[in-house]
Amino acid sequence: MNTHPIVRLGIISALQEEQQGLVEAMQGAATHIHGRRDYTTGTLWGIEAVCVLSRIGKVAAAMTATLLVEKFGVSHILFTGVAGSAGNGVTVGDIVVADTLVQHDMDASPLFPPCEIPLTGLSHFAADALLTTCLAQAAAAFVQGDLGDAIGDGDKQLFGLSAVRVHRGLVASGDQFIHNAARINRLGDDHPGLLAVEMEGAAVAQVCFELNVPFAVMRTISDNANEKAATDFLHFVRAVAANYAFYIIKRFCQQTSQASMLSAGTKS
Ligand code: ADE
Repeated sequence: MNTHPIVRLGIISALQEEQQGLVEAMQGAATHIHGRRDYTTGTLWGIEAVCVLSRIGKVAAAMTATLLVEKFGVSHILFTGVAGSAGNGVTVGDIVVADTLVQHDMDASPLFPPCEIPLTGLSHFAADALLTTCLAQAAAAFVQGDLGDAIGDGDKQLFGLSAVRVHRGLVASGDQFIHNAARINRLGDDHPGLLAVEMEGAAVAQVCFELNVPFAVMRTISDNANEKAATDFLHFVRAVAANYAFYIIKRFCQQTSQASMLSAGTKS
């Protein structure tokens, strides 16, 4: 049970490359292996934290989020990683901070409406408003302050990172890497306002809803979820997304007071 009256931040990414640098930056780091994952506890820029790689997919993410809360006593969760763009002005290199998340591949119709999580009455889960605002502010500060130095000129050119923007809105998760233009267009039609697709966020959202833990999700856009989605994917994650995540989490920890984090979850 989570009995800690303090802030202990759980930070999840799916891939090792998406969390590069954070574990190295931890003070007093200690690694605990549980359920085939490494949970590293320590302090990040003054905030007690637990970093873990979920691996890919909704089950992997749900298990990791649950253990973070139930075994490692985290009070708040951030998820950082990459996503495919679903259009609506979102381009490669942009940052999407989720306001709301939906599991696009949940379909128990005709028993329940498509995307509704059976027996919850919900299809969409809201991220914590305060954590989401703090994460979006950290992302904006990163774009203005760190981006110039954080990414090499060659990679900026290769991925066309010239006018990086931070978006807030709907993110859809499913156990599918979307790499088909017709499919991403259909998802956009089915989910008006959809900004990005990925494979974990809405699962973490459901766990956090059920365990009453404030959470936020940040994604760097790595591809357009079309036939070219896998081209340069790992290069992008290593050269771009890893740096985004490191600097944005750093800014988040430095800019967000623990007192304000303790008020998270009370009004979202
Ligand atoms: N993560 C990054 N790109 C993705 C895509 N195209 N589909 C699902 N998850 C992703």
